[in-house]
Amino acid sequence: MESYGHVIAGEEVASADAATFDSVDPWERAPWATVASGSAQDARRAVEAARTAFDDGPWPRMSAEERGGILHRFADLVVERTAELALADTVDMGKPITESSGHDVPRAARNIRFFADHARLAPAEAFPMPGGQHAFTSYDPVGVVAAISPWNFPLMMASWKIAPALAWGNTVVLKPAEQSPASATILARLALEAGVPPGVLNVVHGFGPDAAGQALTESPEVDRITFTGESATGRTIGRAAATNLTPVSMELGGKGANIVFADADLDRAVEWAVRAVYTNSGQVCLAGSRLYVQREVLDEFVDRLTRAAQALPVGDPKDPATRIGPLSSQEHHGKVMSYLDVATAAGATLHTGGPGEGWTVLPTIVLGAGQRDRVTQEEIFGPVVVVLPFDDEQDAVALANDTRYGLNAMVFTRDLSRAHRVSRALRVGTVWTNCFFVRDLRAPFGGAGDSGVGREGGLYSRDFFTEPKAVVMQIDPDPATQEAAR
Ligand code: NAI
Ligand code: MG
Repeated sequence: MESYGHVIAGEEVASADAATFDSVDPWERAPWATVASGSAQDARRAVEAARTAFDDGPWPRMSAEERGGILHRFADLVVERTAELALADTVDMGKPITESSGHDVPRAARNIRFFADHARLAPAEAFPMPGGQHAFTSYDPVGVVAAISPWNFPLMMASWKIAPALAWGNTVVLKPAEQSPASATILARLALEAGVPPGVLNVVHGFGPDAAGQALTESPEVDRITFTGESATGRTIGRAAATNLTPVSMELGGKGANIVFADADLDRAVEWAVRAVYTNSGQVCLAGSRLYVQREVLDEFVDRLTRAAQALPVGDPKDPATRIGPLSSQEHHGKVMSYLDVATAAGATLHTGGPGEGWTVLPTIVLGAGQRDRVTQEEIFGPVVVVLPFDDEQDAVALANDTRYGLNAMVFTRDLSRAHRVSRALRVGTVWTNCFFVRDLRAPFGGAGDSGVGREGGLYSRDFFTEPKAVVMQIDPDPATQEAAR
């Protein structure tokens, strides 16, 4: 068995009480690694290390160029160790290896490079004032950032959180999900190898409630919390953070609507619909898990989608041919399976798909569900798409917006005016028109409604991971001028 420790103050260490847990390979359905299980005490040690590195260390005092140079070396090492990092995520949570090595690792490196460059190049405002002063904004590092990440994109999501935090001069304690801990330890080892000073990026492993996760959210020594995961967990973390008035950025669940109009390029719409709901076995917050198809093309669309779904190879995620691996854990497999029962109990049918071998679920299409049914309203987080018809544009927007979530939506149409009208009417954080998953890291990323609080990306990340300070300078010392500007 492999072994992964916490990384605190530059050292890979066991828990203070020596507790460990197993990480389970969901394809083999057997433990493959032993991981340090962090308690509140370990979280406290990690926060202290980050605090010391921030208060007394070089990192916040370096120029953005210096930090950027180190972060680019860090990204180089991530790329060099693609095989090791990709395999860690694949064995931890079942993601097909072509995805982890072809998408997640390169994207992690891109996140690190982007924020390193962004911190160096982003313009800042200056406001010439009529009274002979000018005001400018200084983006100061804020302190210790707690990053709590999920298991669906372990390395990628960790990098999305730590890259802007580090680039803007903060120190970090990362708590990866207990289902997918390995790549976080590897990431912290690589950061040290790249020259990130000890204590700047710490990793503490373990569970959430009554363990390392909760302790981080309750620590008065933490200055920012960035979290991605379930909406219910977001509420708990929000409450804990409120006690210390710690700002929180949260990206939570989703039930993405994918709207296909009859005038769309159906070949492309089918391709994107498949990617939108079956990538990573549907364990994607952005999944297009509600598919609304205009009635006149419904049958044809379902036929094509069915053929495409049935053609996806299901199996061992380490096999490069596999497109659908197992679900991340036994518990999660149970949750997704229970939704298949929820669907049929409400009178819907499983048009294709259903249970697979072990902890796999075959690419599934649910037909005949109602808009208010649980299967249409709740986040399943599996390879399950609910297909529903709509009649016109107004109908489509109303159905898409009829959810407590608001992370994203997709619109397929060749009518440019309609694309604009519909995009505007959707209450979501991201609308993709005639595409999906394409990201510009400068753009805001986050959700409306129960899908989150705040935005990250580009300047949005700067606002969250710094303390923007207004500095007002008197240039003209004439007291009369000064008086006039008040
Ligand atoms: P979760 O929200 O419980 O876990 C995410 C992270 O939060 C993990 O690192 C976990 O250890 C930590 N955590 C949990 N409780 C905490 C607490 N009280 N204080 C601090 N940290 C805490 O998600 P879980 O249970 O793994 O998955 C359940 C469902 O959540 C999934 O089926 C899916 O529907 C949704 N989910 C959504 C994600 C997204 O990308 N938006 C990612 C993961 C899960
Ligand atoms: Mg949970």
